[in-house]
Amino acid sequence: MTVVGIGPGDPDLLTLKGREALEGADLVVGFKTVLDVVAGRTGSAEVRPMAYRDQEAVLDYAQEQAEAGKNCVVCVWGDLNVSAKELLNRVRRRADTVELVPGVSSIQIACARAGLSLEESLFLTLHQRWDRGSELGELVDTLRQDRRNVILLPRPFDFMPPAIAANAIADGADPGHPVTVFQRLTLADESRWDGTLAQCAELPDEFSDLSIMVFPRTLTEGN
Ligand SMILES: C[S@@+](CC[C@H](N)C(=O)[O-])C[C@H]1O[C@@H](n2cnc3c(N)ncnc32)[C@H](O)[C@@H]1O
Repeated sequence: MTVVGIGPGDPDLLTLKGREALEGADLVVGFKTVLDVVAGRTGSAEVRPMAYRDQEAVLDYAQEQAEAGKNCVVCVWGDLNVSAKELLNRVRRRADTVELVPGVSSIQIACARAGLSLEESLFLTLHQRWDRGSELGELVDTLRQDRRNVILLPRPFDFMPPAIAANAIADGADPGHPVTVFQRLTLADESRWDGTLAQCAELPDEFSDLSIMVFPRTLTEGN
């Protein structure tokens, strides 16, 4: 089985390797929104969208097909090494060898838009199901130390930017700390909001599931 990171939404950001894997596939599976990005690029492959409730059944089918000698591609949003561990593990449990075709991550696009370097940043995701508290603790510690930028993926839709900002302030972050929220990066309706933590906490809770928070450090280099 092959896992392909299909990029952040703009089909032009699908890599050539990813495109080749899709064109040579007998079966392509993935969440529906992910498959929409690669529609028209799947050659003669059977295409099976999955949802959270039936993903195990669809992946079981892909495993059967792979065991029968078919080329099966599992599509993952963005890059497969960024906040996609649960799906990647589901595939790994089903195949002895899994080929990985990395993609362009939404966090790379967020860095490019915000003018930040990844090596000066901490990446946190609230997507995982376990201990969210430790991620939020790290967010506040890093904001207070102000040594690194933080790039954070909220969790749709129970822990979105206003709640994250309010929580950080309650836990001791500076309400004046700058924050940027990017939505739907690389898509036609991409948007950007800039403000402070306090302003973010007051925003209406109307964010896309494709939202990224960036907290730039305020110290300049050499300080
Ligand atoms: C399960 S994670 C997968 C991330 C993906 N593997 C990547 O590399 O971008 C999904 C989250 O990534 C973020 N995300 C992915 N694509 C995005 C985009 N085009 N614009 C903004 N945020 C995005 C959102 O926070 C979204 O809820």
